[in-house]
Amino acid sequence: MPASPLRLGVNVDHVATLRNARSGARPDPVRAALLAIEAGADGITAHLREDRRHIRDADMARLKAEISKPLNFEMAATEDMLRISLATRPHAVCLVPERREELTTEGGLDVVGQHNALAPFIAKLTDGGIRVSLFIAADVRQIEMAAKLRAPVVELHTGAWCDAVVDGHAEKAEAEWQRIVTGARLAKAAGLEVHAGHGLDYATAETISALPELAELNIGYFMIGEAIFVGLAETVKAMRAAMNRGRSRA
Ligand code: PXP
Repeated sequence: MPASPLRLGVNVDHVATLRNARSGARPDPVRAALLAIEAGADGITAHLREDRRHIRDADMARLKAEISKPLNFEMAATEDMLRISLATRPHAVCLVPERREELTTEGGLDVVGQHNALAPFIAKLTDGGIRVSLFIAADVRQIEMAAKLRAPVVELHTGAWCDAVVDGHAEKAEAEWQRIVTGARLAKAAGLEVHAGHGLDYATAETISALPELAELNIGYFMIGEAIFVGLAETVKAMRAAMNRGRSRA
């Protein structure tokens, strides 16, 4: 069976991080989103955090109004975010865990432990016409519970694998990789659409693109960093090329 096409979602959070460093209007994350789409991104991802450290409410509203590709709204499962997402009506909501003091989303959502709270939350988003994705570790119990919760999508957390690759910890990298491979197969077999993201760069994106179960990668930090040197359009094109190379091996 040929592998399905693999979408690239570009996360523009860190354009807003840079903007907020001077509290002005530039650089504009919406301009970055438009440029990324023009260069070949299939969608845009943005995370509205409780502390609004990067993306702000007005950014989300503008992204929804101005981009022509699907908007993936990352958020914590709180009442405030439910209200904002239902008003914004993005294509998808990706539910992520959030701790104020963390530098980035450190772990996956514990859908096993939070099952009772998540079930009605997911139902409200689904009733609002929003496709729900759960950002989880590639863990058997989490994947099985995600399927029971009837979310159509899981996004597998690739952060631990990517960190191990970059740090040169070969044994850990191999163990994390095997978890992702097994998790992607299990999730797909359970009827879930499988996405992946966190910490991906050209090399890890190329490797993971060879997994035929995957339908989408969401990538931000590395790409915004690369864009400083070669521009965002070039970065999107290079990432797309890396994904295509990997996909050709699927
Ligand atoms: N997917 C999810 C659910 C995330 O929380 C993040 C980080 O905001 C990403 C993907 C992108 O991760 P990175 O910025 O490390 O590429």
